[in-house]
Amino acid sequence: MSNLLTEQVTDVNHWTDTLFSFKTTRQSGFRFKNGHFTMIGLEREGKPLMRAYSIASANYEDELEFFSIKVPDGPLTSELQKIEPGDTILVSSKPTGTLILDNLLPGRNLYLISTGTGLAPFMSIIKDPETYEQYDKVILTHGCRYIDELAYQESINEHLPNNEYFGEQIKEQLIYYPTVTRETFKNEGRITDLLASGKLAADIGLPAFNKDDDRFMICGSPSMLKDTCAILDAQGLKEARHGNAGHYVIERAFVE
Ligand code: A2P
Repeated sequence: MSNLLTEQVTDVNHWTDTLFSFKTTRQSGFRFKNGHFTMIGLEREGKPLMRAYSIASANYEDELEFFSIKVPDGPLTSELQKIEPGDTILVSSKPTGTLILDNLLPGRNLYLISTGTGLAPFMSIIKDPETYEQYDKVILTHGCRYIDELAYQESINEHLPNNEYFGEQIKEQLIYYPTVTRETFKNEGRITDLLASGKLAADIGLPAFNKDDDRFMICGSPSMLKDTCAILDAQGLKEARHGNAGHYVIERAFVE
């Protein structure tokens, strides 16, 4: 495949037994929009073994970052989880995807709804100054089973608010709402239930969501996407499709 670039791994972070993230070099010609995914992978038996991964870094950063689960029998992740700095990975030079600001109608609040590795594209979106130009409040939710799976908390809570260029906007406008389903925590329950019951909005001090003010980007498992769409559809929100902007956009998180 001629569109495959070769990049070097520069850093690997193992969050838990089942989650890791890594950074790679980025060739200067590699362009993407914040929220995009691209195919990445390894060469195995002379052939590229590729899967779609959201890019967790922002498009102005020098390196690329990816956030992955480790599946013991996963064709790619069983190998990918062993990578170390200096190793080579393949990256498609054709990023794409629906989780981009351009696909949404203008609105007041942007809800970024994620479970598991579905957080990845939103790490890119929350580092985009344009996000804070377009919305008053940006609500980043992350639903996991256990507290230790709430990756990137330090970046979100500490590094971003101290960013020299847009730290003040982050402090004013970004609301981080992590929740877990299988142990005791300050926020508990499925993000879908918290959204539907109005508890999420109440906890963060915003009115119940509605199609006039609120826009959504959703990234998670197929069942999480289905359940979230049903909640939004019931309130009259419309998914962006076929190049027409809408009230929400969805994408499946990487799972194997
Ligand atoms: P739960 O513990 O109730 O299954 P997973 O690791 O299975 O992808 O789950 C990640 C998080 O997403 C868990 O907190 C899980 O909750 C939650 N989850 C799973 N399915 C759904 C769904 N259909 N809607 C909302 N959240 C879900």
